[in-house]
Amino acid sequence: MRQMIEADGLTKEYGSVTAVNRVSFSVAEGELFGLLGPNGSGKTTMIRMLTGQVPPTSGSARVMGLDPANDPIGVRGLVGIIPEQETPPSFLTAEEYLCFVARIRSLDRIEERCDRWFDLLEFQEKRDVLCKDLSRGTRQKLMFAQAFLHEPRLALIDEPLINLDPIVQRTVKDFLQGYVQGGGTICLSTHILDIAEEICDRVGVLHNGRLLYCGRTEELAGAGRHLERSFLDLVRGDAGA
Ligand SMILES: Nc1ncnc2c1ncn2[C@@H]1O[C@H](COP(=O)(O)OP(=O)(O)O)[C@@H](O)[C@H]1O
Ligand SMILES: [Mg+2]
Repeated sequence: MRQMIEADGLTKEYGSVTAVNRVSFSVAEGELFGLLGPNGSGKTTMIRMLTGQVPPTSGSARVMGLDPANDPIGVRGLVGIIPEQETPPSFLTAEEYLCFVARIRSLDRIEERCDRWFDLLEFQEKRDVLCKDLSRGTRQKLMFAQAFLHEPRLALIDEPLINLDPIVQRTVKDFLQGYVQGGGTICLSTHILDIAEEICDRVGVLHNGRLLYCGRTEELAGAGRHLERSFLDLVRGDAGA
């Protein structure tokens, strides 16, 4: 099976803080992989290294066969990215923003593509609204649309469901599951365990920059146990170590 992400000993130090500490894992094509961990555990830093937004201090990665440290623009051209808490530009309408992204990516059939995303994520009626006047949920739908507009084989999404109401959460979760069923690959980060338990095939648990567990979600949850229980045992056990 083709590996879409391979991290080998990835490490990021910010001064005296080791945000990510010698982390290795891989994500195969067609997987919905979740990076779990409490706040400050290194999830965002990991996604930034994999998408070429920050270089690692040591270790290396391959993302769809490219090294994000050496070819960040190549990686960003291939993959879809939703950075943490990023919002679309306030001065453009939803449709103008999507067209802007489509032009940067040199896409064809721009109107048709945009239309499809307004339909798929159910926000056609917002296409002419300035981004500054969109609700948080609609802005996040727009961030999904820009990330998937070029139909990437792999998307990296940092905290996709944070602060979204249950209806938008459902739309987004259904979309993500449909996307991997269609052969796409997702690497998302979340500190919301219920989401991971519901949609992730495999998870990696980060704590203080270290990967404490990497494997199938149901194996971490264990027979008859809840993922939250196992997660708390892992993280508290590590804190006390
Ligand atoms: N640009 C930065 N400069 C300094 N420290 C940072 C920077 N980014 C993250 N950190 C630190 O690295 C650690 C991991 O942060 P982060 O990757 O944002 O974790 P998470 O996304 O899991 O909340 C934290 O201690 C954070 O304060
Ligand atoms: Mg984060």
